[in-house]
Amino acid sequence: MEELHKAAKVAFASEFSFYLKAHNFHWNIVGPDFLEYHDLFGKIYEEVYESIDPFAEKIRALGTYVPASLGRFSMLSQIDDETQILSQDAMLVELAEDNEKMVRLLKMVYDSAEQFGEHGFSNFLAERMDAHRKHGWMLKASLKNG
Ligand SMILES: [Fe+2]
Repeated sequence: MEELHKAAKVAFASEFSFYLKAHNFHWNIVGPDFLEYHDLFGKIYEEVYESIDPFAEKIRALGTYVPASLGRFSMLSQIDDETQILSQDAMLVELAEDNEKMVRLLKMVYDSAEQFGEHGFSNFLAERMDAHRKHGWMLKASLKNG
């Protein structure tokens, strides 16, 4: 159970970092396709943000505490912080790669939750994977070279 707790915290910190990066890109995008990508990043950050509170509460229900500070997030997150202002294409590529990372990470925690018989949590994780697959589709379909 300890390893499930640990993996869940890593996935949660990564999900929060992913949310923040999508919001960052929504704010800071510059380029000829501004409105299109401002809206795409907007849709993504809103969807991910809405998952944050239920995600945290599922972790609490597993019987452990939730990382909830910038220091803990940066310690645990597998999504690298972006401190530069990227071009619109670089933003799409980076968020698409981070999104793939999220799908893999969520799958790992899903497998662990199943192993421990935590089916309520694994159902939630399956929904998160599904949502990220949709984000991945939209991000990749927006890339110039697919
Ligand atoms: Fe906005």
